[in-house]
Amino acid sequence: MVKPPVPISVNEIPFKVEILEAFLHSSEDLVAGKEYVPKLYTTRQGEKIVFRLAKKEEAPIILETLKKLIDPQYDKDLYHIVAARTYAEVLAWTQARYKDEYVIVGVHDGELIGVWNARLMNKDVAVSLHSITFKRLGGIGTAGYAAKAEYAFEVLGVKEWWATFESPFGFRLGMYFRHFMKPYPEVQHELGGSPVFYMTADDWFNLHKKREELKPFFGTRPVPEDLLKKSYELRPPSKLEIEL
Ligand SMILES: CC(C)(COP(=O)(O)OP(=O)(O)OC[C@H]1O[C@@H](n2cnc3c(N)ncnc32)[C@H](O)[C@@H]1OP(=O)(O)O)[C@@H](O)C(=O)NCCC(=O)NCCS
Repeated sequence: MVKPPVPISVNEIPFKVEILEAFLHSSEDLVAGKEYVPKLYTTRQGEKIVFRLAKKEEAPIILETLKKLIDPQYDKDLYHIVAARTYAEVLAWTQARYKDEYVIVGVHDGELIGVWNARLMNKDVAVSLHSITFKRLGGIGTAGYAAKAEYAFEVLGVKEWWATFESPFGFRLGMYFRHFMKPYPEVQHELGGSPVFYMTADDWFNLHKKREELKPFFGTRPVPEDLLKKSYELRPPSKLEIEL
């Protein structure tokens, strides 16, 4: 407690919570209204996956799905920790507690098939947060990662993409897109784990977008109307297909 330099008329000044909220609310100025044209990815097994921005109203479905994985029985391939962290980030997004976050969902026949999120540190740097798929072995994780980076570089116009990896499978998918390493521990990712692995806008446009072997992961546009419509009738996956 610090004594004021002059007498103050009252001992306490209550604040309306709406006044406090103005200080607590995270900004979304860099992502607000920035549309991402949905796209279609065909898995190795032929399933049609729609990738699109999630709506905040869909958060309960995303959270319900992630919550199932927040359990020690999923301490395999780092699913437990990634589900827990993604859960917190999606919740923070809906409650305006994470600056300039965006969330991309993958949807198969109305079922949520994965979640990919990131946020903007500032107009030049996008910070990749998490990638998690509920159906493995179709290349879905890589296609979703391409979608969130594409949004950052091609719609939001960032100059750098900063990732870090928690799992060997996450690292493997990141390595599809050659990332360089920032000096560590001098430069740290906000997830606080391994070094920052980054790629630049120049890498994105002049290398990756031109690589033949990556083309399938970039998907196609437009998404046929019936598939797009179905993707907005979002429901949790009927089963978690995460065992290899
Ligand atoms: C990371 C993740 C999104 C990647 O998804 P994905 O790209 O669809 O990849 P999968 O998990 O299906 O793994 C496929 C890979 O497994 C490997 N694999 C599968 N079966 C295998 C086997 N029997 N032996 C060796 N490798 C095998 C292959 O290398 C395959 O890679 P390919 O797609 O290049 O052929 C997903 O694994 C996931 O959600 N993991 C949990 C959360 C997580 O770790 N997130 C990333 C945090 S950094």
